[in-house]
Amino acid sequence: MTKSSLAAFPYVPERFDPLESVWRPHAGQARFLQADARFKVLACGRRWGKTDACAAQVVLTMLERPSSRQLIVAPTLDQARLLFDRVLELLDGLGLGSDSLVRRTPYPHLRLGEHRLMARSGHLGRALRGNEATDIVIDEAAFLPEAIITEIAMPMLATTAGSLILISTPNGHNHFWRFHSMGDRGEHGVWSAHAPTSESPYIAPGFLEVQRELISDRAFRVEYLAEFLDSVGRVFATHAIDRCLVATLPDPIEPPFSIGVDWGRYRDYTAIAVLSGNRRSCQLVELARMSDVPWRDQIARVVAIVSRYKGASLTCDGTGAGDVATGLLREALPQNRLESLVFTSPSKASLVDGLAWLFEQGALRMRPDPELMRELQHFECRPGSSGSPRFEAAPGFHDDLVVALALAARGLPTPYSARIALSGVRRFPTDD
Ligand SMILES: Nc1ncnc2c1ncn2[C@@H]1O[C@H](COP(=O)(O)OP(=O)(O)OP(=O)(O)O)[C@@H](O)[C@H]1O
Ligand SMILES: [Mg+2]
Repeated sequence: MTKSSLAAFPYVPERFDPLESVWRPHAGQARFLQADARFKVLACGRRWGKTDACAAQVVLTMLERPSSRQLIVAPTLDQARLLFDRVLELLDGLGLGSDSLVRRTPYPHLRLGEHRLMARSGHLGRALRGNEATDIVIDEAAFLPEAIITEIAMPMLATTAGSLILISTPNGHNHFWRFHSMGDRGEHGVWSAHAPTSESPYIAPGFLEVQRELISDRAFRVEYLAEFLDSVGRVFATHAIDRCLVATLPDPIEPPFSIGVDWGRYRDYTAIAVLSGNRRSCQLVELARMSDVPWRDQIARVVAIVSRYKGASLTCDGTGAGDVATGLLREALPQNRLESLVFTSPSKASLVDGLAWLFEQGALRMRPDPELMRELQHFECRPGSSGSPRFEAAPGFHDDLVVALALAARGLPTPYSARIALSGVRRFPTDD
């Protein structure tokens, strides 16, 4: 309701009134900003206005208190920067921009009177241990390792009795879901809410109808209805992926290296994944993606990456046009062992099985890459027309990073161990 529609009633001030000249929340954002709790968890559909709402929250805290030490965290520094820049825009709009001291490197940092604001990525690892914060806002919290929240963010609030906000699109039944459920059950003073994309009036008319046609029902329910769905049709279980996430990779990065290359086709990306280690214990050390680049430049880019990893072996997609690209790569890298894999239903099933195995064993360590995590979340196994299962991205999503990672996993050496040979249950049909 607007103030004028309330003319007959005494006006009750709202928390977000001080922002009125620059920004007004929609109804869902208003509910979130008004909620009075130290720990808020909000599960939202994509484009709902999460980043905008978090920026408003940060600025309101600055306006309401004489001092604060706030921290913004997101899976990547680029995402954290986006939120930080939105805060700057709001401060500029309020005429406070010129009073702020902004530093952009090594990470965004702002000082405004007695207020400090820092933006950090999910790769921050040990960097923040020992620091204090009065308020922490975590954007896309479902895509960060749980340890960042419980072992790094929460202890930073211990001495300040500070506030924590987790906001995200759901990512299955993982830690974000557990925190959200605490709010549902009214435990520990946690406030939680659920907000489908349709709640935002800023979504263009027809956008959601088009998305509903383009992507699978399951993906639509997760991405736009913000439902916590897990497992049905999913190849990589959230709990298994989450177990593999780390804030920092152990040093030093050592051989052996196994590199997977998935060549892009129509509307796809070329993706490259570099693993170090073996099938019992490995880590994802580099992940790259490129699109709309001529073949020659793609080969040059792959060669440049490979040259950084001494003695690396490669496993490349050799299907269709990929066969030609793989041939060119072999000529450019005569010293490296290179295997070409032609995708058929059984070979793809075996490839994906190998990666699922690594996740289930907790043998892989990786930092949270939001694109990869979204691809893993929407990688499905569905019945194909020939009766054999099809392993691929849900309609509307990519799977090039997953396939590159699976190719790299296939090339990993197997350390001799009776335990590895005998343990575990393979979930998918294989071609070997
Ligand atoms: N209260 C608001 N007033 C005006 N525009 C808004 C408001 N809330 C959101 N928007 C606009 O809606 C769009 C989506 O907002 P935002 O980026 O905050 O959403 P998001 O949920 O973080 O999206 P994503 O899922 O892509 O991360 C942006 O263009 C943003 O400026
Ligand atoms: Mg956002």
